Amino acid sequence: MPPVLRVENLTKTFIRKSLFGKPSVTKAVDDVSLRLEEGRVLVIAGESGSGKSTIAKLILGALDPDTGNIYLDGNLMTRDQKSRRILQRSCQMVHQDPYDSINPRMKVRGIVSEALEIHHIGNTRAREMRVSQALRDVKLDPDDMIHKYPHMLSGGQRQRVVLARALAVKPRIIIADEPVSMLDVSIRAEMLELMRELQQKHGISFIYITHDLATARHFGTDMAILYRGAIVEKGEISGVLDHPQHPYTQALIGAISDPDPANRFREKALVDWETV
Ligand SMILES: Nc1ncnc2c1ncn2[C@@H]1O[C@H](COP(=O)(O)OP(=O)(O)OP(=O)(O)O)[C@@H](O)[C@H]1O
Ligand SMILES: [Mg+2]
Repeated sequence: MPPVLRVENLTKTFIRKSLFGKPSVTKAVDDVSLRLEEGRVLVIAGESGSGKSTIAKLILGALDPDTGNIYLDGNLMTRDQKSRRILQRSCQMVHQDPYDSINPRMKVRGIVSEALEIHHIGNTRAREMRVSQALRDVKLDPDDMIHKYPHMLSGGQRQRVVLARALAVKPRIIIADEPVSMLDVSIRAEMLELMRELQQKHGISFIYITHDLATARHFGTDMAILYRGAIVEKGEISGVLDHPQHPYTQALIGAISDPDPANRFREKALVDWETV
């Protein structure tokens, strides 16, 4: 069985033109290869700016890579419309900030059924049933929710609505980019527990993007560590976290588990590693 998703040698460079002087060139993603097996949760971890969200955008076809290939169920996704549609339907995204991806003027019913309409899935009746089911799946009461606007919801409820919208199209893969970092600490675990339950119930494979190694261990099965666009280490999550081989991973873990808050500052991991 081929993995549900495989990316091979993805590279993406951004060039920012400047009015004066040379344009700045950022290699945001540098020769990245990853496999996501069916029903697994692949964590992509790394410092801010290491290229995590860019990888997500490349997988979703929101950006074109300079080089590299994406395979879904072993099939090469070319950059034509048909492949793009298949990818956009099979992979759904949950962003860090729900307001990035939902229209504040739409009611919950419209938000959750949006992707169903885009992909022409079902008739009106079938869509309504899918919307209700998706809301129940994320433990929201459809009758109470469908007529509400996003601003009438709590942060946790809003993120559940985003998750319901992702679920409604019955995706193979959900890419969750820091899905809980803007939520209250008290409800983060609840949200992750819910994602795990859905992953098991529906057999959805997840890419979980985070720099929080504690929630990564809780939710993930596999892990890739990203540093300046390149993967420095990958493998089963317990192997990577308990026996990190690469000095950058060691610094990242060391910085986070250090009892002295001054040393816990994330950027310190970077500095330490660069001076190794
Ligand atoms: N559209 C863009 N134009 C120019 N540079 C970009 C663009 N998008 C991302 N970059 C740059 O690419 C690099 C990787 O950015 P990316 O957003 O993928 O990082 P990230 O790991 O998701 O960071 P964070 O943890 O802060 O979300 C950064 O240096 C960023 O400034
Ligand atoms: Mg990001």
